[in-house]
Amino acid sequence: MIRQAADFLRSRLNTWPSTAIVLGSAQAAFAEALEDKTVIPYKDIPGWPVPAVEGHAGQLITGVCGTTPVTVLSGRVHLYEGWTPQQVTFGIRVLGLLGLKNLILTNAAGGINPKYHPGLLVLITDHINLQGSNPLCGPNDGGLGPRFPDMSRAYSPAHLDTARSAAKELGIPVGEGVYAALLGPSFETPAEIRYLRTIGADLAGMSTVPETIVANHMGIRVLAISTVTNMAAGMQKELSHHEVLETGKASAGNLIRLLTTLLPRLDP
Ligand code: HPA
Repeated sequence: MIRQAADFLRSRLNTWPSTAIVLGSAQAAFAEALEDKTVIPYKDIPGWPVPAVEGHAGQLITGVCGTTPVTVLSGRVHLYEGWTPQQVTFGIRVLGLLGLKNLILTNAAGGINPKYHPGLLVLITDHINLQGSNPLCGPNDGGLGPRFPDMSRAYSPAHLDTARSAAKELGIPVGEGVYAALLGPSFETPAEIRYLRTIGADLAGMSTVPETIVANHMGIRVLAISTVTNMAAGMQKELSHHEVLETGKASAGNLIRLLTTLLPRLDP
């Protein structure tokens, strides 16, 4: 199915950008600002899972940001919606077949590190997979990658350096930390957050890790940036999806400026 989807996309566009960005709905403005756009609704692509959310989510957009070609995946599906790990990573696989080299993942996360605050952008330096699944389970397709991929540098040290210096130049404060991926959709309990802090997590979230694993499997370099939309359970009064969305929107400007600045610098 991934090869069928890749053939379909090749028939729509001859050359594919070497960098892709996965955006949440809060950052949709980034895609709107691209030039020379081609918009392909997910529902038109064979096998591509379509998110069940309102708004503009659910589109693949290619275009040029400044002078840098980029593919934007606007909207993603999650394990907690009942999608399989293979469906959650379908788009990354397909872009990998089209020659993707750099993948930028963005997400909303709860802040576990007490030095964080809502609205802060955090560069993910490593992760802890607590989702109880792995998209590489099952027979390995040796044409895509190795059976046992190395995850020692799952988040590209070179891309992290690029992001650090871009943030510094722009005067945007960024944290760095370890992202713990949970299945969701319930938020964590305060006891779970104490446990996560003990095992070395700075952020809690429900996405990103399956995509990162598949990208590493295919030799695609990953940069991942969290927006701390709330402090984690037990560290603030209560948690709500409404707050996650509102804080995400409020911090979108900084994230978009950061992405726009670092994008042209990713290719070696
Ligand atoms: N926990 C897990 N995922 C999240 C959170 C959280 O507190 N906030 C936004 N996504």
